[in-house]
Amino acid sequence: MKKILSDQYDIIFGVPAYNFLGKLIKNRAYSKIFVLTDTQCNALCIPHFLAHLPTETAFEIIEIETGEAFKTMETAYSICQALTELKADRDSVLITVGGGVVTDMGGFVAAIFKRGIACINVPTSLLAMVDASVGGKTGIDLDGIKNQLGTFTMPQSVLIDVRFLETLAADQMRAGLAEMFKHGLIYDRSYWEVLTQLGQLTTDDLEDLIFHSVQIKNEIVAQDPTEKGLRKILNFGHTLGHAIESFFLESTERTTLLHGEAVAMGMVLESYLSWQMGKLTEDEYYSIKTVLFGTFAPIDLTASEVEACLQWLQHDKKNSGGIPQFVLLDALGSAVVNQVVPKALIVKSFKECFS
Ligand code: GLY
Repeated sequence: MKKILSDQYDIIFGVPAYNFLGKLIKNRAYSKIFVLTDTQCNALCIPHFLAHLPTETAFEIIEIETGEAFKTMETAYSICQALTELKADRDSVLITVGGGVVTDMGGFVAAIFKRGIACINVPTSLLAMVDASVGGKTGIDLDGIKNQLGTFTMPQSVLIDVRFLETLAADQMRAGLAEMFKHGLIYDRSYWEVLTQLGQLTTDDLEDLIFHSVQIKNEIVAQDPTEKGLRKILNFGHTLGHAIESFFLESTERTTLLHGEAVAMGMVLESYLSWQMGKLTEDEYYSIKTVLFGTFAPIDLTASEVEACLQWLQHDKKNSGGIPQFVLLDALGSAVVNQVVPKALIVKSFKECFS
């Protein structure tokens, strides 16, 4: 069985994951099993999931709307109400089957419902497989502020079945790739180099790449589960990425950007800042920009939209004394945290990177 052992839970890959789940359900003797999913996954992924669940398992499905716009208190509240109506108790388990919104929000509800019930993540998007479902961050957005409410609560286990990706839209695949690029850039130069040759990789390579990304994330989280220091490197590209994502989410004129798309833009910007702050070479910056803009189209923002994006920086969870703290690269495959960057340089980065 292909698996990664975290210090608190197991991450199981492929078909054997379903046998593992069957045994887990039997051994833990959960009083009730709830499956949280969204409308899109209910149609595309739940039939595959149920076909592999041990037949004697009884469960209730709770469905939410699809998309980041629904990662709200209102949706979390409705899930809590559904669990209450369906008589969930402390020995119940919530199995999240979906992308990052479902695993983040399901994890959050499981962490607070009756002060905590078990949660098992079954990620169905690439982004959720390599990032959201692993490492115990749970959360919901508040008034457009990303993950403003949340907890660090480890899941009881994570099941990764890459066959879910067969129905994943191309833009969602790309969004997941952004987090994989990030793993290479912050931690593993040779992995970054493999990913830059993506055009030559086949889908058979995908499970190995996902496995490697999860290994990197797990290794970082194991050293710093509650993000006091090292884990912050996983936020590379996210300081400006989250600001851009929140701006698009709340804008009435712009269509929403996927999380991974916003993070890709953030990684180009923060690589530029890394170069300008004397940590990366010009060649390294341009190589990152070429690879990322080969996969993600640059966004086009007016000066006032850049200003509007930067307003969201005040809500970044890494801020100290109201000052944004960036994760910068000091080489391909290595990152430093708690870096302060002049505001004028941040504004300049948007102009230099996207024009
Ligand atoms: N997504 C970043 C982290 O889990 O720390």
